[in-house]
Amino acid sequence: MARVEGAVLPDGTPIGAVWSRLLQPDEGGSYVDAETPQVGIAVLPEYHNRGVGTALLSHYVEAASRRYQAVTLSVHPENHARFLYEKCGFVRYGAGGGGYWQMIHRFATGG
Ligand SMILES: CC(C)(COP(=O)(O)OP(=O)(O)OC[C@H]1O[C@@H](n2cnc3c(N)ncnc32)[C@H](O)[C@@H]1OP(=O)(O)O)[C@@H](O)C(=O)NCCC(=O)NCCS
Repeated sequence: MARVEGAVLPDGTPIGAVWSRLLQPDEGGSYVDAETPQVGIAVLPEYHNRGVGTALLSHYVEAASRRYQAVTLSVHPENHARFLYEKCGFVRYGAGGGGYWQMIHRFATGG
């Protein structure tokens, strides 16, 4: 199952998106189990640092917390996206290839 949500300007112009999908064991860089999705996010560069990423990811996490027990992601520690993830409740749980961090957000009552 894949899920995609976008951020759009009032005129309908898309400026960012958050998406997630369930992984196979050998893909994605942050596989935990077949019921735990991996999330990704991107905002157009000209709209960075205006809170769009925070709004997208916060909304995703709130919705995911009602459906899943956890969500994961993979990020390089030098990518400032790491601070967004930590702000939204993700913690490092392992190391992937190439120095990437595996991060997870566990939900108390999800699933
Ligand atoms: C990561 C990304 C989605 C953030 O989107 P954004 O709309 O700029 O995010 P926000 O404006 O909501 O900022 C979110 C947080 O990011 C962090 N952040 C943003 N710019 C930063 C910088 N230059 N240095 C350190 N932290 C930074 C801060 O924690 C910030 O929270 P704060 O405003 O409370 O301090 C965006 O930078 C992007 O699309 N990057 C390219 C794609 C990418 O790397 N995706 C992640 C792959 S793992």
